[in-house]
Amino acid sequence: MGINFYEKEAVFKLDTPDTSYVIAIVDDEKFIGHAYYGKKVEDYDLTYLLRTSEMPFVPSKNERDRLSFYDCFPMEYPTHGIGDYRESGIKIKTKSGHVATKLSYESHKIYAGKPAIPNMPATFAGEEDCDTLELLCVDKEQNLEVTLVYSVFRHLDVITRSVRVKNAGEQELYLEKVMSACLDMDNKEYELLTMHGSWARERHIQKRTVGFGKQSVSSCRGESSHQDHPFMALATKNATQDAGEVYGFHFVYSGNFIAQAEVGQFQTLRAVIGILSEDFSWKLQPGDTFHAPEAVLVYSSKGLGEMSRTYHDLYRNHLIRGVYKDKKRPILINNWEATYFEFDTDKLLAIAREASGLGIEMLVMDDGWFGHRSSDNMALGDWFVNEKKITGGLKYLVDEVNKMGMKFGIWFEPEMVSPDSDFYRAHPDYAIAVPGRVPGLSRNQYVLDFSRQEVIDAVYEMVASVLRSANIEYVKWDMNRQLSDMGSLMLDSDCQGELYHRYVLGVYQMQERLTSEFPYLLLENCSGGGARFDPGMLYYSPQIWCSDDTDAIERLQIQEGTALIYPLSAMGAHVSDCPNHTVGRVTPFETRGIVALAGTFGYELDVTKIPEEDRKQIPEQIAMYHKYNDLVRTGDYYRLASYSENREFDCYGVVSKDKKEALYTFVQVLNRANCKSRKIFLRGLDAKKTYKIEGTDQEYFGSTLMNAGINIENLWGDFRAKLIHVKCY
Ligand code: GLA
Repeated sequence: MGINFYEKEAVFKLDTPDTSYVIAIVDDEKFIGHAYYGKKVEDYDLTYLLRTSEMPFVPSKNERDRLSFYDCFPMEYPTHGIGDYRESGIKIKTKSGHVATKLSYESHKIYAGKPAIPNMPATFAGEEDCDTLELLCVDKEQNLEVTLVYSVFRHLDVITRSVRVKNAGEQELYLEKVMSACLDMDNKEYELLTMHGSWARERHIQKRTVGFGKQSVSSCRGESSHQDHPFMALATKNATQDAGEVYGFHFVYSGNFIAQAEVGQFQTLRAVIGILSEDFSWKLQPGDTFHAPEAVLVYSSKGLGEMSRTYHDLYRNHLIRGVYKDKKRPILINNWEATYFEFDTDKLLAIAREASGLGIEMLVMDDGWFGHRSSDNMALGDWFVNEKKITGGLKYLVDEVNKMGMKFGIWFEPEMVSPDSDFYRAHPDYAIAVPGRVPGLSRNQYVLDFSRQEVIDAVYEMVASVLRSANIEYVKWDMNRQLSDMGSLMLDSDCQGELYHRYVLGVYQMQERLTSEFPYLLLENCSGGGARFDPGMLYYSPQIWCSDDTDAIERLQIQEGTALIYPLSAMGAHVSDCPNHTVGRVTPFETRGIVALAGTFGYELDVTKIPEEDRKQIPEQIAMYHKYNDLVRTGDYYRLASYSENREFDCYGVVSKDKKEALYTFVQVLNRANCKSRKIFLRGLDAKKTYKIEGTDQEYFGSTLMNAGINIENLWGDFRAKLIHVKCY
């Protein structure tokens, strides 16, 4: 059991293989104190760290300075309004407008297994993998019950947290803020690692020193966003891939969020992660419970690499679901960059014919097949096949593609509506808008009000009818604008602050419904590229489109950031045509294939039009995918060098769990004069095992390859790439 309660000392100790987390209930008022989180310790009674026996400190001994206690005590879940002036975890407003909450320990439950969070994504685990602690805390004046939920993984250094907030009184309460996790820590002069970006430039890693005050990343865009990411890590200064302490905080949620580190006057650090409280409020009627989303905490005492591998294992085994969870994904060809809106049945069949001959396994028909959609200005919401383009109908097209031995996939953007669509003309009130104000357009579209069941039902029926009409085995679910002008016709004035969260719940509900009715579907989420690449969406789709930037060199940085916390099996990556449509760069076809191999792998080009010498390489690339995908999908990820740091080359590897095989990718971005070779130090091998590098006969110990390194000869030219396959024989 990873969780123990020591009654005499009123201490809870949570243990994973390499970490301990200690909570203590102190003083007459049963404050819930946070004593420790970090590398595993043997003792459980760490209450001395809470300074309760020191000079008058706790309120029972020093009532006159109660606020001093609040202002520095490490609270497990700090509350708003009573004198802890650091960031709070929860803020409740009563009917009378007051906002002071104080929580005391009431009771607890410890059990094997992990509860689901109703109607929301969360990691899952059986009784053999996980133990859970539920700490019930109450505010008797507010008739409020707050349950702090901790699940501890037995084989991974992961602790998940979530919070349930219940109105146990007779009058309504307004939840104005609820963090999913708060953590009071010593200030070890951490560096804060976050990810920022933009369209086509997602998840670039940013490091900065944590200073006094608050530093945060957040999204108020209604989705996790291109711009910031619902993740932060606190790493000891100069932590490397394999050394240093790292605390990761990741939020299993797809809407507005905040992740924040705050260093206060006493040199302590408070970390919080949760739903962004700006524009959030939730009315709790008597008896109502609000479920906050899950936060995933990972501690590593062995640097960033260990943190990445822990997240990868967790998400591969305990978040991703469905038939493709542990399966190789079909190699797809998507027609977006090949044709944009200019396609019809004949063009698609010509692409499919050529593609199937080369070994590609699925054709995905992207945007433009429905309503009168001939550009991105119209028809979202009219999910009916445009038979002027798709002559012969969808079933005919799908059957023809199937006859070639290929699967068929299709694109939708269910959450959106174009003003120029029959759906909008019939239901203008279905769009999110503030009454009396014309909402702002983005890509000439509005956002549908997914907080309303009738809106979800109407869209679901259209989407499902298309899926029922032919043998469609893949859906790309897109979302191409962010939310604004928040207003829902169906919400009372004191509930409008619920709209952002209700919208996200609506998206989750529809994806759950879709994957339940069509369990064989491979769902790939997407949002203008990678604006909703988050663990929430990963619960519904085993892969997510990483970025609209398909340039192999731009992708290095995007994929490095993404792979910091997501398994490679989740990263949608395609080979596209050159000059690249986003940045105009020309890279060798071989490099494009090698870089896409680090993700799901597929093509996004007109295979009937690309140069013959490129086309000829496709069967080789496909063979490469089949040879390495099991390893890439299931192995341990190691970062050897980062182009975003050295501006010259990138290098990463995947090592099989039994350490008998590894594949390293080296990409030379910038060639240097008079630079004969570059040395790289392989990582993740078994020091005592002997390996051969494919294409050579000499055997080396893992220790040699990792410590003495290997030379990569000059690849002559920029943007050249090379795979290094290492195996035990
Ligand atoms: C978004 C997606 C693209 C493509 C277009 C279609 O930008 O990220 O891959 O599907 O929409 O409009």
